[in-house]
Amino acid sequence: MKKQIELYKLAKKVRKNAYAPYSKFQVGAALLDNLGKIHIGCNFENSSYGGTICAERNAIGAMVAAGGTDIVEIVVVTDTSNGSTPCGLCRQVLAEFSKNPKKTIVHVSNLEKITRSFPFSELLPHIFDSKDLKMKKVKTSS
Ligand code: THU
Repeated sequence: MKKQIELYKLAKKVRKNAYAPYSKFQVGAALLDNLGKIHIGCNFENSSYGGTICAERNAIGAMVAAGGTDIVEIVVVTDTSNGSTPCGLCRQVLAEFSKNPKKTIVHVSNLEKITRSFPFSELLPHIFDSKDLKMKKVKTSS
């Protein structure tokens, strides 16, 4: 079975566990890491809305806990007609673990199939990352 189909099935299954009593928007994610391991995640919301964790970041947390450092590909499942791309906050977190943004592939899916696939570099161009923290700082006169 093609890896992305396996990831799709797992993401669709874990989506059912999403805890989304406020938005009613359930999301599932499954990713393959650089160690060849698969990690899954669903969104879980909080009555203090800012405490919500998205499916993608939940799956990335599982990867980090298991020792993975780089995302090969990730499938995100929603019940929207064309599938939904990761939110801005998740893109920033994906950036941290996409060592080669042209090689990391993000697949978005509806409940029937993968609808669109993007190299991560297309979803978040001009990334802010660790190199910015090391960049030479410019002093102003004031
Ligand atoms: N959500 C995700 O899980 N992933 C995204 O990329 C976008 C949004 C969740 C967060 C919240 O629980 C619900 O979808 C509505 O925003």
